[in-house]
Amino acid sequence: MIKTKVPLKIKAHEYLHHEKEAEPCGIIIFGASGDLTHRKLMPALYDLYHAKLLPENFFIVGSARTRWNDKIFRERVLGILKGINKPDPLLQRKFVEHIYYRCANYSDPNALRSLAALMKELNAKHKAQENIIFYFATSSDVYCDLIQKLAHAGMVSKTKGGKPWVHAVFEKPFGHDLESARQLNKTILKVLDETQVYRIDHYLGKETVQNILMFRFANTIFEPLWNRHYIDHVQITASEILGVEHRAGYYDRAGQLRDMFQNHMFQLLTLIAMESPVTFEAKHYHNEKLKVAEAIRSIPRNKLHEFVALGQYGEGRIGSHKVPAYRREKGVPPHSKTETFAALKILIDNPRWKDVPFYLRSGKRLNHPMTEISIHFKKVPHSIFTQLKSDQFAPNILSFRIQPNEGILLSFEAKYPGPKLRLASLNLGFNYKDVFNTTQMGPYERLLLDCIRGDQMLFVREDFVEISWQFITAILKDREKLLPRVFPNYASGSWGPEIANKIIQQDGRRWQDF
Ligand code: BG6
Repeated sequence: MIKTKVPLKIKAHEYLHHEKEAEPCGIIIFGASGDLTHRKLMPALYDLYHAKLLPENFFIVGSARTRWNDKIFRERVLGILKGINKPDPLLQRKFVEHIYYRCANYSDPNALRSLAALMKELNAKHKAQENIIFYFATSSDVYCDLIQKLAHAGMVSKTKGGKPWVHAVFEKPFGHDLESARQLNKTILKVLDETQVYRIDHYLGKETVQNILMFRFANTIFEPLWNRHYIDHVQITASEILGVEHRAGYYDRAGQLRDMFQNHMFQLLTLIAMESPVTFEAKHYHNEKLKVAEAIRSIPRNKLHEFVALGQYGEGRIGSHKVPAYRREKGVPPHSKTETFAALKILIDNPRWKDVPFYLRSGKRLNHPMTEISIHFKKVPHSIFTQLKSDQFAPNILSFRIQPNEGILLSFEAKYPGPKLRLASLNLGFNYKDVFNTTQMGPYERLLLDCIRGDQMLFVREDFVEISWQFITAILKDREKLLPRVFPNYASGSWGPEIANKIIQQDGRRWQDF
């Protein structure tokens, strides 16, 4: 543990987890002509390079069907970095000297042979010690076939912690439902050990999400209150103003439950609800996450509408811009029944959370972009101020602002100054940007670095991915019954459909206003 300098303004200690050195390696990205590689992976890899966090000896090979070559790919990467104003153009040129491209159609057996030969050549050239990361940034339909072919070609095998090592990163969604996720796990784990498998969920790489555990388990004052005796309910909202953008091909088959709930929302819920791990190490942390996920009650099939609400956006306004309905977006079938919004009520059957509902909502084209978790404490049981009834006190709310304006807020009641007995609701809080004088590491940077270092803590374990799919797949099976008669059922720029309000109002509560 290293204690570093105290930042200005606050008394803070920074404890660094004992982190392994990043060893030399090559990174092969499948799906390299796609959106994810351009928007997330390449900028993150450059940021790591710029921060001198990548090993000195490394190379990156992008691979996809698109007919590019090294020169075109490098130019595109430079274009992306320039487009998002990444610093140091000279360094960017040095960075792309580590980058290569191989056009490949993997149904052709020669394609892998030629990729293997290229890897051999680049390993020697860059002294990468034959350590390899295969990054699957393709659709998950391709994972099974490709990993089997890689194994057949001798390019991946179980390394059992030895060297050279092979790590494989799989993008979300990991499968399409429980059955496909199981099949994927089965196929992958025939050729790799679980210790080599990195199922990514970029929410786990966000600083503010990691902070949930620091907040809960590095302080003493909240944990005693963190249970059914003091907490009335929990809300998690992830709202976006963006629509489906240019991802209709993927999104229309996925929908909001698969795209946001099976992974990001489920992870946030788990971090709020889990018990303390024995130590802050991957195994214990994953064990506790699994336990709480196992305690989540399946949605009762005879009360579906009390627990789930689905929506699809119609036309509307985002700020001053008029935006089209989902069904009018490019690539979306005109009668699509895909949900772009979902709200769920979730119950956890364990002693800590018995009868404490967790209300989750997430959607596209909502009122404004934000992700926030709010813990709503119970009301004051009795008012000693005879002029005020106990329900006139606003309950305390603790909010984790995941994005934007990352920070934590606690609302409480205080006396309003003056001769009369009046109360005011105040906020006590901090904002990351104001307090910590450092730039935050982006989630992809963090996760790529962890994968290079062999740290699986912030990735999703085999059993957890299946349990989250089990929960979502059960809802998806009843999707037809859940579809409202009329779609679209909410206007772009609103807070979602009216049926989402019913989910929470039926319990005498309301969604938090933002
Ligand atoms: C992705 C989803 O995983 O997360 C997108 O596929 C969504 O549909 C995105 O927009 C949200 O991530 P963030 O980091 O912008 O909240």
